[in-house]
Amino acid sequence: MANQYSIHAESVIKHFGTTKALDGVSLKADYGKVTGLLGPNGSGKTTLIKIMSSLLEPTQGKVLIDGIDVHRHPNQVRNIIGLAGQYAAVDDYLTGRETLEMVGRLYHMPKKEIKKRSNELLQQLGLEDAADRQTKTYSGGMRRRLDLGASLVSTPKVLFLDEPTTGLDPRTRLQLWSIIQDLVTKGVSILLTTQYLEEADALADKMYVLNHGKVIAKGTSGSLKSSLGVDIIEVIVKQNQLILAQKSLTQKLNKTITIDELTRRLQIKTKNGSDDILLVAQILHDIKIKPEELSLHRPSLDDVFMSLTAERNHNA
Ligand SMILES: Nc1ncnc2c1ncn2[C@@H]1O[C@H](COP(=O)(O)OP(=O)(O)O)[C@@H](O)[C@H]1O
Ligand SMILES: [Mg+2]
Repeated sequence: MANQYSIHAESVIKHFGTTKALDGVSLKADYGKVTGLLGPNGSGKTTLIKIMSSLLEPTQGKVLIDGIDVHRHPNQVRNIIGLAGQYAAVDDYLTGRETLEMVGRLYHMPKKEIKKRSNELLQQLGLEDAADRQTKTYSGGMRRRLDLGASLVSTPKVLFLDEPTTGLDPRTRLQLWSIIQDLVTKGVSILLTTQYLEEADALADKMYVLNHGKVIAKGTSGSLKSSLGVDIIEVIVKQNQLILAQKSLTQKLNKTITIDELTRRLQIKTKNGSDDILLVAQILHDIKIKPEELSLHRPSLDDVFMSLTAERNHNA
């Protein structure tokens, strides 16, 4: 049977002494897509990545990478994966080129291919000019790109990226995003952990939200947003219309309307945005207010995340 998932984790448990770092995590990642793993600090993201990439044994549970059991065939798995992390593991005294070539030798690649692949990556990662300098002269962003390059030398089928952009400046972060998107178009399956929700929103097709070692939500960015069950209607009116608009809307809709005086904005949370936005337009029309802006939007992924983790922490 063909493997359905690039990564398939089943009920993975990991205890460190009395700490339950992972408390029964299951995950299925599609081929050729980015799967996001979100969660606050200490939620178990790195532990899961280490288990999936054969660096750590689970207490219980099973992981298949491209159909291969990580516990039984760690070497086979290592041959088809790449791993890049938050802390770029780069040797100061090697040059960028030497670093990549060394990785190629570790994978027993032919000499010619190592040269070709290293050149290709240095160019792709924008490190050509710095290729023959010792990496101790590199900036944080350059080191991170080189670390990512090292994980790509053997062209992995499955790539694990553990907070690849944490601490990077916005421009370097965008560069990395485009490299990641490029890899996906080349068919690489990627598991990406991040604390930046807009990053998951931009890159991940499906995401898993971890909290205290458990999956507390999964789905596409859109489905997670809808699961919060509210839409937000926003109205911007003239300063001197704010109070009248608030009063009328409160009365007719029987909902709490919040005002932000500074931005002249009224906000209405509703479960039925597409109907209520028409009502809002009608009510404003009746009192002869022409809104400067009237919009309906879903909550952001940040709203979802806050709500999810807040609930959990409250229940815990
Ligand atoms: N080697 C270890 N020994 C003991 N506890 C650990 C070890 N590694 C991780 N932990 C604990 O497991 C939990 C999950 O950590 P981690 O996987 O690093 O989370 P994240 O990557 O989401 O920040 C934390 O409580 C952390 O302190
Ligand atoms: Mg981590």
